[in-house]
Amino acid sequence: MGPQGRWRRILFVAMGGMLCAFIYYAYESSTMHRNPKQAQFPHHNNVSLPENDLSMMTVIKALYAPILHPVDASNFTDEDGDVYKLPGEPRFREKLGKKVLIVDIDSRALTGDGQLMNDELKWNHMRPLSAGMLSHYMFAQIHGYDYKFIRAPDYEDRWGTWVKVPMMREALKTHDYIVFMDSDVMFHYPHLPLEWLLNYWEMSKDNLVMMSIDPDEPQNYDEKGNRYLNTGFVIAQASPRTQEMYRDWAECPTDKKYKGCAHWKTDWAHEQAAFGNYVRYDYNRPDDIKVLPCVQANGAPEAEGRGGCKGIFVRHYWVDKSLLSRTLGDQVMQYFLPRLHQLYLQESKNHIIDAKGFKLSGADLIELTEDEKKKLKDKEGANQKDEGF
Ligand SMILES: *[C@@H]1O[C@H](CO)[C@@H](O)[C@H](O)[C@H]1NC(C)=O
Ligand SMILES: *[C@@H]1O[C@H](CO)[C@@H](O)[C@H](O)[C@H]1NC(C)=O
Repeated sequence: MGPQGRWRRILFVAMGGMLCAFIYYAYESSTMHRNPKQAQFPHHNNVSLPENDLSMMTVIKALYAPILHPVDASNFTDEDGDVYKLPGEPRFREKLGKKVLIVDIDSRALTGDGQLMNDELKWNHMRPLSAGMLSHYMFAQIHGYDYKFIRAPDYEDRWGTWVKVPMMREALKTHDYIVFMDSDVMFHYPHLPLEWLLNYWEMSKDNLVMMSIDPDEPQNYDEKGNRYLNTGFVIAQASPRTQEMYRDWAECPTDKKYKGCAHWKTDWAHEQAAFGNYVRYDYNRPDDIKVLPCVQANGAPEAEGRGGCKGIFVRHYWVDKSLLSRTLGDQVMQYFLPRLHQLYLQESKNHIIDAKGFKLSGADLIELTEDEKKKLKDKEGANQKDEGF
């Protein structure tokens, strides 16, 4: 058995009792109630799992389904204990499922060492961008969205990132909602569904796209002095007008509709500058483009000094890309750990041996007399008082 097979076995042993028809996730920790700062996973859902299916899909479902945040919940408490409340009635009350496409777009083969399309991917040698795309894929599996990696053809005369514009346009022909993320962008809470975010950000029927504002830095301003919208994270809603907007955006550098756009073919910030300098001023009905706050949908804590963008819901690791792998690990471990811990305590009668009723003498364990036991108990009671419990 290779290391992966072994890992799977270990995982299944650890999941033990979970693989029955119903699991009840009751992560009841009294500290959660004492300290609201830790109250991050308040939901316990009963989930039905197929009994004879040990596929990786089932593993993902077993881990996340019991704690998925309801799509129409009136609030969400983040890991810092901050509460985010829906501003109004939720538009999305049902899961959108395969109407949503999570899409990665890249023109490169990505078959090199540590890259996603290589047959082997080792945790220690994974390139950051592989972690990003695997996180997107996992997010889609957790919530039942569609996922595609689109290998795009290159433009002959444009900077590589331009390809995402026509490719998103194509994706919007087959799905009602698409979420495009650069490979250094991740949703911070895998158990928080997109529908909840759409409710929170108030996506209306007339929105074409949602994008985050860029950090407040000099290079992020357009020719009119307004800050760019970041094209590394885009939620788009399909409509004839969305198709038009994407067509105009992709054709911007032809200079036909938008004079002066051609130099953004190769000049930084490429398609982002074309959108920022032209398209957004053309598609300017109030609902056309929804601008998301940088603090919520862009940036990462290590970049917080740069424009106050912490990335509460969506993180963009443009400063320290090594954080991508670590974050993918966190996205699993922060959910796996409470479950493992719960199992540890639940099964404790099978593996915790209490030898406190004995004393050590040389190589031997000698049972304490009743008198000694009482003394020990009193001493422990006193110690506990000292620690302030
Ligand atoms: C989940 O199922 C268990 C066992 O059937 C039941 O006792 C419990 O009340 C259920 N919990 C919820 C939240 O529905
Ligand atoms: C958040 O929503 C839950 C469930 O609807 C509710 O019980 C709770 O009071 C809400 N909390 C806040 C701070 O609004």
